[in-house]
Amino acid sequence: MSTTQDQPPTRTARPIQAREMGRPVVRRDGRAKVTGTATYAAEHRQDALHAVVVQSTIARGRITALVSAQALAHPGVVAVLDHTNAGRLADTSDRELAVLQDDRVGFRGQVVAVVLAETLEAAREGAALVKVSYAAEQHRAELREQDATDTPEKVNAGYPTDTDQGDVDRAMAEAAVTVEQTYSTPYLHNNPMEPHATLALWDEGAEQPLVLHDSTQGVHPVAKTIAPLFGLEPAQVQVLAPYVGGGFGSKGLPHCHEVVATLAAQAVPGRAVKLVLTRQQLFALAGYRTATISRMRLGADAEGRLTAVGHEVLEQTSAIKEFAEQTATISRMMYAGEHRRTSHRLARLDVAVPSWMRAPGEMPGAHALEVAMDELAVAAGIDPVELRVRNDQPEHPEEGTPWNHRRLVDCLHRGAASFGWGGRAAEPRATLDGDWWVGTGVASATYPTYVMPGNQARVVALEDGRFRVEVGAVDIGTGASTVLAQIAADALDVPMTCVDLAIGSTDLPRATVAGGSAGTSSWGGAIAAAAEQLREDHGEHPSPGAESTAGGQADPRQQDHAMHSFGAVFAEVRVHRWTGELRVARLHGAYSVGRIVNPVLARSQFLGALTMGLSSALFEASVRDPRFGHVVTQDLASYHVASHADVRDLSVEWVDEEDTIATPMGSRGIGEIGIVGTSAAIANAAHHATGVRVRSLPVTADRFLEGATPG
Ligand code: MOS
Repeated sequence: MSTTQDQPPTRTARPIQAREMGRPVVRRDGRAKVTGTATYAAEHRQDALHAVVVQSTIARGRITALVSAQALAHPGVVAVLDHTNAGRLADTSDRELAVLQDDRVGFRGQVVAVVLAETLEAAREGAALVKVSYAAEQHRAELREQDATDTPEKVNAGYPTDTDQGDVDRAMAEAAVTVEQTYSTPYLHNNPMEPHATLALWDEGAEQPLVLHDSTQGVHPVAKTIAPLFGLEPAQVQVLAPYVGGGFGSKGLPHCHEVVATLAAQAVPGRAVKLVLTRQQLFALAGYRTATISRMRLGADAEGRLTAVGHEVLEQTSAIKEFAEQTATISRMMYAGEHRRTSHRLARLDVAVPSWMRAPGEMPGAHALEVAMDELAVAAGIDPVELRVRNDQPEHPEEGTPWNHRRLVDCLHRGAASFGWGGRAAEPRATLDGDWWVGTGVASATYPTYVMPGNQARVVALEDGRFRVEVGAVDIGTGASTVLAQIAADALDVPMTCVDLAIGSTDLPRATVAGGSAGTSSWGGAIAAAAEQLREDHGEHPSPGAESTAGGQADPRQQDHAMHSFGAVFAEVRVHRWTGELRVARLHGAYSVGRIVNPVLARSQFLGALTMGLSSALFEASVRDPRFGHVVTQDLASYHVASHADVRDLSVEWVDEEDTIATPMGSRGIGEIGIVGTSAAIANAAHHATGVRVRSLPVTADRFLEGATPG
């Protein structure tokens, strides 16, 4: 079956009446997942050969010799591919994806060979027997402020690198209250439960020569990226991902393992090849959040009204491929202020390529901005909630466009009431409960509302008033397959039990990535468009077999609006007076995100993101050894992710809302906003508890020990 490439009509669907939307429907895929019958990428084709990669042990240089004779002689080993014998790619311009093409090494951990064997054990043993010699060159792998001098052309998601309005320097000089501080966030690695895995099958003569069972956030995007590397059209690549065990952005863009698996499959035509990265390998091969350094300047009048906002970001990219995170963009839109300057500068290091991690940009950017706002509140003697309310802005401060919905103040007030913010001590270090200093903190949150173009859906009328709804989307654990069925039911005006939803395959209509918190918005809009098209083509009561395909289109009013969601996060933190141990006793988030399509699944998204925010506040940090260039904390023992014992009382609420500019469902995205501002609320609460200001993540116990230097 080939992918539909002809262009169906595209439309902005009318708003959908909510009947199934808004109901707390349980996850449709829940039973399959908990009973182990859900099949993940590596669980297909038990006859597959196993592939294990060999990684470079230098950060920069050339391979001078690669000897695979011993590996090939090992029982069970079928083949060893390296740059001398792997298939040639049709396009090598993307140096992250152009693996096994030449002798150059651009970062430590780069794939230099892959061993194929009949068993996983033999492949691992074979990989250990491959002998590689290098001519190492001087490398740079440390992010130092003085080296971050390169201006990227643009930053992730297409934002401009720099903005400059008014005269920040003068406004700072004239301001009654100022904050000038530097904040930093460490390298962070996504650790989805299911590691990245690709099962590839190459059959030269087939209509679709390449089949990939892939753990990915987007089947069509994988086909689109991988096909041209192998001289194929996207329609000649079938990508299947019915179940995916998490991604958080790390499976949003194809990485080199998909190419390695395909090259391996090409070498053994007709035989499936299974490549599952190990947990350790994820730390070099699956993207990560760059470390960031934010130089913040805030200036305000005596009442705390911002006049100057400055946010200069220093971060890194890889020398082999540019990825510039949009860390300062949050400071362009969050608060009022006539004078504003933001910039991004990069150090190009000999390190693995950074990529997406839940709220790339907004997460570290919000940490800097929202801790700086807390410092401004202290300096001005204004309550931190009130300071944020005073700096609410009726339109986008740089662009002058109205917001679709800006209910930040609502979120701050409702969240404050639910959390019990009132009666908070004005001074820090005011509350000691036994041996624990207790404090509270707040931060604002936001995330842009993206609706991606290029999404299509097909609706087919079946017997007995049932419908089959097809869209090439992926459910990475978010609950998309349940939520899309709710949306489809309302779009078709039938109960949800009448909807058979098909997702997770390139056989289905084109769909964009499960990323940018845009999945449900973009795919749901296409489903709504297809349902309208069916009605137009076949009337109110289509006969079985009638079908229509349509593309969704964002509401044109989005052009004239600044499209964002908002929220407020509140934290209660306890810091042990003798050990500095820090516990997050409570976290509460209040959000304005449009209509909630499914309150059970939405709550899970928010709780998951708050937990990830808590985790980044207290624990997560990837330590890179600049001498060798690799991340040394490459397992879940040394890279601690928050566990049950770390997470106490979490709660969320949302305002009732329907945003018909955003989507026909009235919803906006919810995947990422919960991690935005969360680490700042915790760091601010820790300051309120102890009087110690920590400006770099993670906020660890040593910062609170007597005599320790704050910072
Ligand atoms: Mo998400 S980091 O936009 O895949």
